[in-house]
Amino acid sequence: MKKIEEYVRSIPDFPEPGIIFRDVTSILQDADGFALAVDSMQALLDGVEVDVIAGAESRGFIFGAPIAYNLHKPFVLIRKKGKLPCETIESSYELEYGSATIEMHKDSITPGQNVVLVDDLIATGGTIEATARMVEELGGKVVKIITLMELAGLNGRERLKDYDVASVICYEGK
Ligand code: PRP
Ligand code: MG
Repeated sequence: MKKIEEYVRSIPDFPEPGIIFRDVTSILQDADGFALAVDSMQALLDGVEVDVIAGAESRGFIFGAPIAYNLHKPFVLIRKKGKLPCETIESSYELEYGSATIEMHKDSITPGQNVVLVDDLIATGGTIEATARMVEELGGKVVKIITLMELAGLNGRERLKDYDVASVICYEGK
């Protein structure tokens, strides 16, 4: 059986020189790779009491939804600003150039619920941190953050030090 790392295509110097892009499409377009990725992420939740799974648009949906389905838990969509139709709260975070704003429905979390955040990747940790802030604003407790990949060189862990973070694959660089 292939290891999960073997399904990740790494593209040097994309989107700019010095960056190695870790491509998730090469995992997803292989049925065994996709299944192994979801199963490996879900295994990180062993022993965790979960009420709700939340994932950020768009790659967080790919992995968050099947895990929620498998665990028979609700799945909450964190979306880019302007996409959700009902009352929302929002959170902004810095990108390399400019900033981004994400939103979630106010009624998507009930105070006191145990929420797990799912994404494909932690780079700077900005997306997950913004997501965690919103969940907490709604009274949810972020009990675990799980991702498929983590770029340790960007210090996302430091930014997320108040949380229980686990990833399947950790790359040393950026
Ligand atoms: C990518 C990735 C993570 C985030 C990681 O999403 O899917 O969500 O960046 O970076 P960070 O830790 O520095 O925040 P992106 O915003 O590119 O959008 P996408 O998921 O819609 O592709
Ligand atoms: Mg993303």
